[in-house]
Amino acid sequence: MSTNHRTNNYLRHLESMKILPSGAGRIPRLNAVILGESLATEENDFVVPSQDFANQANVKSPEQYLKMYKRSIEDPAGFWSEIASEFYWKQKWGDQVCHENFDVRKGNVNIEWFKGGITNICYNCLDRNVEAGLGDKVAFYWEGNELGVDATLTYTQLLHQVCQVANYLKDIGVKKGDAVIIYLPMLMELPITMLACARIGAVHSVVFAGFSSESLSQRIIDCKPKVVITCNAVKRGSKVIYLKDIVDTAINDSTQNGVSIDVCVTYDNKLALKREETKWTKGRDIWWQDVIPHCPTTCPVEWLDAEDPLFLLYTSGSTGKPKGVVHTTGGYMVYTATTFKYAFDYKPSDIYWCTADCGWITGHSYVTYGPILNGATVVLYEGAPNYPDAGRSWNIVDKYKVSIFYTAPTLVRSLMRDGDEHVTRYSRKSLRVLGSVGEPINPSAWRWFYNVIGDSRCPISDTWWQTETGGFMITPLPGAWPQKPGSATCPFFGVQPVIVDENGVEIEGECSGYLCIKKSWPGAFRTLYGDHERYETTYFKPFAGYYFSGDGCSRDKDGYYWLTGRVDDVINVSGHRIGTAEVESALVSHPKCAEAAVVGVEHEVKGQSIYAFVTLVDGVPYSEELRKDLVLTVRKQIGAFAAPDKIHWAPGLPKTRSGKIMRRILRKIASRQLDELGDTSTLAEPNVVTELIELADS
Ligand code: PRX
Repeated sequence: MSTNHRTNNYLRHLESMKILPSGAGRIPRLNAVILGESLATEENDFVVPSQDFANQANVKSPEQYLKMYKRSIEDPAGFWSEIASEFYWKQKWGDQVCHENFDVRKGNVNIEWFKGGITNICYNCLDRNVEAGLGDKVAFYWEGNELGVDATLTYTQLLHQVCQVANYLKDIGVKKGDAVIIYLPMLMELPITMLACARIGAVHSVVFAGFSSESLSQRIIDCKPKVVITCNAVKRGSKVIYLKDIVDTAINDSTQNGVSIDVCVTYDNKLALKREETKWTKGRDIWWQDVIPHCPTTCPVEWLDAEDPLFLLYTSGSTGKPKGVVHTTGGYMVYTATTFKYAFDYKPSDIYWCTADCGWITGHSYVTYGPILNGATVVLYEGAPNYPDAGRSWNIVDKYKVSIFYTAPTLVRSLMRDGDEHVTRYSRKSLRVLGSVGEPINPSAWRWFYNVIGDSRCPISDTWWQTETGGFMITPLPGAWPQKPGSATCPFFGVQPVIVDENGVEIEGECSGYLCIKKSWPGAFRTLYGDHERYETTYFKPFAGYYFSGDGCSRDKDGYYWLTGRVDDVINVSGHRIGTAEVESALVSHPKCAEAAVVGVEHEVKGQSIYAFVTLVDGVPYSEELRKDLVLTVRKQIGAFAAPDKIHWAPGLPKTRSGKIMRRILRKIASRQLDELGDTSTLAEPNVVTELIELADS
């Protein structure tokens, strides 16, 4: 069948299912290219999987996708319980596969999947796979920061190490439901500790090891963990980061705020720092290597209800305090495993590398749980992608024969800037599927990823999802989808995206608006830790009856979704979510800062960068030293990744007469779109704008 023919068939199916607006897909206007035969270019708006790829794929055609999608919407209970039955359940769930109230107007929002089912995700990741004969298969290839430093762990070895950590945690009194904070870099000990917590029903909360001591202590104070697990230091690129010092400061802070930590387990990372040079608090600190290897390598699992919490992961919102997103056991297990399998067209022979850190949701769902549930071989990389040079990623791909490579647009853009020669000197012939996550991928970066990295051979799964959604929501299925550079394409099974206008009214067909989801999916978060009210207010009240994602989105005439970025006060820097209020509150904590307003501006590599307008306390002069000090304050309070790229001195901020800062105007000034400032007549002091423009490049 010709490519155009296949694509047009597909569009007609979409239309008949009412995913597409009526009329779309009738006109044979496609100018599609076949993967492996030609390049993705400006003119070609569809990129269609080759017949060879489609033939071997888990979902081989648009028709097969549509059939499965239709079933998942019409009979979610049947669809998901069939998949769930492939896992081990000590006891099957009750009669109702899903119980939900998604509509705040009808009472408290409540989501339950597989309630009454008794299982354990660690058991399903490890024991089940070992019993199925995967014991000698490699679970993790670990690649250290330095060339030539690596390690391997089979499924049996992983199970043993997980049991040792689980036994140790039990020995020190960690029980089902207790929180455990993990502040580790990308060592194998990070997923090992996550799985160990899951095995005993402890709730892990991984804090990205790039967060500052203040951010860490804020999280410790919020979830009151029984234990903190860290390592003394790590080398990232040519820099050594002294993690234990950060943890010490955080624990001191939290102790002063009434939350003390009795045990701090510290992995001795000899490659970064000598044991004797590590600061130590006797009685509280304990070396990982002194206790874990002595623990037994078997450990019974704690059987959990499907709705028992699995983990807690803090993410940024539009107010200052980070939100503790809570995911539970059963639905998350089924959803991450299924999305991984289909969106990456996973096969048991694949070698999979996701460049995300386990400190973010991507590292939870698609470094640890999703792939390990599928019995996959996963590459973990400790270091920086451009160390010792910009070709390191492809060196790793060739070394381990990586076949599925999943990364963020920011990395794609930065490698693109470094030049093709760093890519083309490596073979990369093992690659077959590429993935993108974290922010919209601009079509030019998409094409470079596709044409240069993937040699015009590998479909790209541009996966749209969030910490809150647990797993992919809108994503191509690589064997089935004609792709469009820059579009996350169409919904995953069971997901019903809708676009609403500002009044919360669903818009049909080709349109732009706010992206919401109708009805729950198994991987959805169930609450915000200790604050169900904030959960409802943030996500379910803006557009009653729907989950509101916080993202803007368009749907084109073919029914494809195009994410346009956050519509709330959240900035996405290199795929990391940062609340403007968090940065503002760090800035105003500086004694010389009277007021601050932060906006995001477009950035060539990072997607967005942080631009801060700062008003100083009366009489304090502007100075380069003060500028640096303000940036340092943000680095110290949140982490280096949240540092503003620009501090714009502001004698005053544009406010309405009721005192509200007009960010719309600030965004225009920050991006130097000075002829698009719009109406400034409602400002309390209109000349503030002129002063700000004058100071723009000072
Ligand atoms: O704005 C969207 C963007 O990242 C946000 C979610 O951030 P976080 O919870 O940190 O999770 C990141 C990893 C899933 C979303 O609200 N985003 C994520 N993936 C995409 C994206 N924007 C466009 N396209 C994507 N593929």
